[in-house]
Amino acid sequence: MTKDTLWDRFLKPFFNAFLLDKEQLQQTQRAIDWDVEIQELRDPSINYPQYYKNQNFHGISGGYLSSTAAITYDPITQYVLPPNEALLRQALLDRIVGYPKKIIDLGCGTGSGTLLLKRRFPDSQVIGIDLSPYMLAMARYRAKQKNLIIDWRQGIAENTTLASGSVNLITVSLVFHELPTQIIKSVLAEAFRLLVPGGQILIFDGNQELISRTSWLTSIFEEPYIREYAQGNLDAWLSSLGFVEVKTEDLWLVHQISRAVKPA
Ligand SMILES: C[S@@+](CC[C@H](N)C(=O)[O-])C[C@H]1O[C@@H](n2cnc3c(N)ncnc32)[C@H](O)[C@@H]1O
Repeated sequence: MTKDTLWDRFLKPFFNAFLLDKEQLQQTQRAIDWDVEIQELRDPSINYPQYYKNQNFHGISGGYLSSTAAITYDPITQYVLPPNEALLRQALLDRIVGYPKKIIDLGCGTGSGTLLLKRRFPDSQVIGIDLSPYMLAMARYRAKQKNLIIDWRQGIAENTTLASGSVNLITVSLVFHELPTQIIKSVLAEAFRLLVPGGQILIFDGNQELISRTSWLTSIFEEPYIREYAQGNLDAWLSSLGFVEVKTEDLWLVHQISRAVKPA
């Protein structure tokens, strides 16, 4: 059931009336053959976890499992990442050390961060993993438009089934505030398993310290797990799993970026 959030009461009608280009949305909806894409991207061996399929994120019924979620995600996201989405995504890129050969973007969504990673590291193998085949279809459409070769896979971030010790860089952007704490810890443990010794993880998300002190921020959107996310501490979670060089920086007050390394 959708909660009576600030988003539902004021922002959604405002976005619908003034900020969303309906013509453009319809064009994108028509440009993608959703049935074919979902058929190709859906891995039938994957069962959607309870915490994922029974929730409405951003007040969208059905969460990320619809073409509506996939086509509206980017037009909305550009307005809800102050001061500027491009600047924040660049801040993550700026903190990557070296030239990672194999990169995984966990919970890649429509690929906004993944596309930038491939642009920045054109010789690397870049894999985008997400639970929603609809978000992946949108990501694949965007990558095709930009002629970028990225491997899009439906997968569960906390259980990717990929080989241990095989990845140089893992990124997780804007995912953790939407997960129960136990699952965040499992995703971090999975990242630790996947990384080569010396491999790095970068996490971009809401500022836990600030959100925990500013309850109205958590009631803008319907985000079922954001309060427990805010009460936690990413540095502590990373350190307890054995990551080293753990560092979280505030980013434009409302966001944070964490970087950590698997010991060499
Ligand atoms: C807010 S979006 C962020 C998308 C993208 N990382 C970005 O920066 O725009 C969260 C994404 O995480 C995905 N997701 C949530 N839980 C997941 C899980 N356990 N495994 C894989 N993907 C997950 C959702 O399907 C959704 O596409």
